[in-house]
Amino acid sequence: MRMRARAAVLSGLLGLLASLCVSAQGPSRAAVTPPAATDGKTIYDAHCANCHGAAGKGDGPASSLLTVRPRDFTLGRYKLRSTESGAVPTDDDLLRTIKSGMHGSAMPEWAPFLTDVQVRAVAIYIKSFSRRFASEAPQAIALADPPAASPDSITHGKAIYERFKCASCHGDDGTGRGAVNTDLKDDWERPIAATRLTEPWTFRGGATPRDILLRFRTGMSGSPMPSFKDAATDAEMGHLANYVVSLARKPVWEMDAAAVKSFYEDLDRQERSDKAARGRYLLDTLGCKYCHSPIHEDGSAIEEFTLAGGQRLSLYPFLEPVTYNLTSDRRTGLGAWTDDQIKNVLTRGVRPDGSRMLPFPMPWPAYGNLKPQDLDALIAGLRSLPPVPNAIPAPKEPTLIPYLWGKFQFLILKRDIPSTDYPGNAGTPAGARSWQTQAK
Ligand code: HEC
Ligand code: HEC
Ligand code: HEC
Repeated sequence: MRMRARAAVLSGLLGLLASLCVSAQGPSRAAVTPPAATDGKTIYDAHCANCHGAAGKGDGPASSLLTVRPRDFTLGRYKLRSTESGAVPTDDDLLRTIKSGMHGSAMPEWAPFLTDVQVRAVAIYIKSFSRRFASEAPQAIALADPPAASPDSITHGKAIYERFKCASCHGDDGTGRGAVNTDLKDDWERPIAATRLTEPWTFRGGATPRDILLRFRTGMSGSPMPSFKDAATDAEMGHLANYVVSLARKPVWEMDAAAVKSFYEDLDRQERSDKAARGRYLLDTLGCKYCHSPIHEDGSAIEEFTLAGGQRLSLYPFLEPVTYNLTSDRRTGLGAWTDDQIKNVLTRGVRPDGSRMLPFPMPWPAYGNLKPQDLDALIAGLRSLPPVPNAIPAPKEPTLIPYLWGKFQFLILKRDIPSTDYPGNAGTPAGARSWQTQAK
C-alpha cells in the first residue's frame, strides 16, 4: 500500500521533472503537446493532485517531501492576491499564479504545459474546494504605480525598512542575518523562513517593484508576512519596494568562475557557523525524516511525531524493524545516548549494546562517508530536536533458517527483498495504552 503510494510519488515527480527538462531545452518548448482534456477536474487530478491532494487539502502523496507545503485550498487562504488582506483572490490572480508558478517553491510554472482554456478550467475547479468563493465577490484594489526608482526613493525606502522593523524577520541586510524572529510558523503551524530579500528570483509573487508593492499592500494570507496597509501610504510602500529591489545580489548564473567559488565558500562558512541548523538540514536531506517519522495511510508524515520514530517496516525474511525515536527525549529517544554511540550507529551500524545492524534498510554504509564536521553537525541537529516521548519496540530479528534463506535469495537467486512500510505509529507515545499500529 505504502509502496504503491511512494511509487506514485516518485513517478509523478520524475514525470514532472522529465516534462520540465523537456521544456528547459528551449527550442523544443513548443513541441510539448498539452493534454487534450479541458475539464478542470481531469486536469487537476492529472497535474495538481499529487501535490495538492485529491480533495485539495494540500496533502497529496508528494506533499510530505516538500519543505514549503502545497496550498490547502479548502480554507480559501491565498498568498498572491490583488485583493484586500483576508479576502479571496480574483480569477485573474489565480490564472497568473498558475501560469507563472511560485518561484522558490515546488509550485511549477504551468504556462508551457497548459493552454489558457485549461488554466481557466483548473482555476475554476480549485475554487470549488472552498465555500468562500461562492459567497464572496473579490475586488482587485486600485493601486498607483510605485514611484520611479532613484537614489532618493531608495534612501526613503531604507528609512521605512527601519521604521517597520523588517529586519526583525529579514535581517539588517535582507539576508536574514541578525534577525530575531527566526522560528516563524505559518497558519498551518509549519516552520516558514522569511524570504532572503537579496534573492528576488525566489519571491513567490514576482520581483518587479509593482509585484512587491502589492505584497506589502495586501499581505500574504496564511504566512507571517504582514500587510502594511494601515501603517504606510501606497507611495511609502512604493519607496520600500524600490529599496527591496536594490538589495538584490548577483545570481550565480551571472558570476564568473572565481566569483562562484568564493560565493559558495562564503556560504559554506556561514552555514557551518550554525551547527544545529546545518544538522537539521542534513536530517531533512539525508532521508532520516522520511524513515524515522510514522506515516498516514497516504504516506505523508504524522506531523506531531516527526523524527520520533515509530514507522514499522517489514523486509521479509530479514528483520522487521520499527524506526527509532531520534528526538532528544531522554527515556525513549537519543537524549541519553553519547555522541559516540550515535556515531557508531551512523557510520558502523553498531548499536549501543554492541550488536550489529544489517546494512539495510537503515543506510549506515552510506553515512560512513560523512565528513567529520557534517557528522558533528548532524549530532548537534539531533540534540536540538525538542523531546517527543515515543517508546520504540526492539526490532524483530530473523531466526537463522529464514535469514540464510533470505541471504540465498538475495545473493544467489538475485531476488529483490520486498520492503513494506505500514501506516500508523508503532511506538508507544506517553499515555497510550497499546501499540497503535494499524497494519493491514
Ligand atoms: C510539485 C508540487 C506541486 C504541483 C504539481 C502543483 N503545485 Fe500548486 N503549489 C505547490 C506549492 C508547494 C505551493 C505553495 C507555495 C507557497 O506557499 O509558497 C502551491 C501553491 C499553489 C497555489 C496557491 C497560490 C497562493 O496565492 O497562495 C495555487 C493556486 C496552486 N498552487 C495551483 C496549482 C494548480 C492549479 C496545479 C496543477 C495545474 C498545481 N498547483 C500543481 C506545489 C505544487
Ligand atoms: C513577522 C515577520 C516578518 C516581518 C515583520 C516582515 N516580513 Fe517579509 N516575509 C516574512 C515571511 C515569513 C515571508 C515569506 C512568505 C512566504 O513565502 O509565504 C516574507 C516575505 C517577504 C517578501 C517576498 C514576497 C514574495 O512575493 O514572496 C518580501 C519582498 C518581504 N517579505 C519584504 C518585507 C519587508 C520590506 C518588510 C518590512 C516592511 C517585511 N517583509 C516584514 C516575514 C516577515
Ligand atoms: C531507509 C530508512 C532509514 C533512513 C533513511 C534512516 N534510517 Fe535510521 N533506522 C532505520 C531503521 C529501519 C532502523 C532500525 C533498524 C535496526 O535497528 O536494525 C534505524 C535505526 C536508527 C538508529 C537506532 C539504532 C538502534 O538502536 O536501533 C539511529 C540512531 C538512527 N537510525 C539514526 C538515523 C539517522 C540520524 C538517519 C539520517 C542520517 C537515519 N537514521 C536514516 C531506517 C532508516
